[in-house]
Amino acid sequence: MVAHRGATAEAPEHTLAAYRQAAVFGADAVECDVRLTRDGVLVCVHDRQIRRTSNGRGIVSALHLAELEQYQFGPRKPKPRGRSRWADDEILSVTDEPDVENGLVLTLDRLLEYITASPGSLRLAIETKHPTRHTRKVEEALVECLRRFGLLGNGGPVEWAGKPAVRMMSFSQLAVRRMAELAPGIPTVQLIGKRLRPVRRELLLGNATALGPGISLIRADPDFVADAHAAGKEVHVWTVNRTADMDLMRDLGVDAVITDHPDEMLRRLGRG
Ligand code: G3P
Ligand code: CA
Repeated sequence: MVAHRGATAEAPEHTLAAYRQAAVFGADAVECDVRLTRDGVLVCVHDRQIRRTSNGRGIVSALHLAELEQYQFGPRKPKPRGRSRWADDEILSVTDEPDVENGLVLTLDRLLEYITASPGSLRLAIETKHPTRHTRKVEEALVECLRRFGLLGNGGPVEWAGKPAVRMMSFSQLAVRRMAELAPGIPTVQLIGKRLRPVRRELLLGNATALGPGISLIRADPDFVADAHAAGKEVHVWTVNRTADMDLMRDLGVDAVITDHPDEMLRRLGRG
């Protein structure tokens, strides 16, 4: 059970508060999106632009880390897809000075410092965003970062309690292949946003460790889970927020459920 961008129903996405809350709920893992800044630092930001999640403007890949660090990241906008707005006292003031606990953009380094401080309590699923813009730079930066934090063994990932501490995910097949070249043995998840039928065979034969369809694809094609398992692939489904879908995931036996509501999913698995 994987908390999507942290426990984002409880705290703003990609903040230490959201990741801490996921740990409090007992999530197995957390998900984060990473992008490269202009000066080659991986930051945990979902969108290409920073306007939805900060009080700044601009494109992540066009800004240096020092520029991003001038802005407040946090609950500045309504939550996506019609969820309730943050309470007034949760909204950061533009005059606040950002720091790690309060609005400073989360770098992958800062997240890994938190995750590796208590090895085994939370695993990490890292999604590279739009890696094709940067040729191999995103995966190279990711591998360097994992190595620096001691999360890459001899080619493969470090394991915590018999399970890989980290995995890499991407919608880009090219990025998944690059990761397999740079760090063979790191589990990869090929995310799938388009319809499953035309690409089923290609996906089942591909080299990703796991396949990551969106929930709407599984609703339309639940047999995909058994077919993937028969092909030796795990299935990681995103972003599962409705209770009926959570029950469907449990009943289909998917390997990882990526959700904004880790507490509810754990209850449905009989672990909450
Ligand atoms: O975990 C996969 C999922 O996060 C992909 O969608 O847009 O939330 O990154 P998105
Ligand atoms: Ca993501």
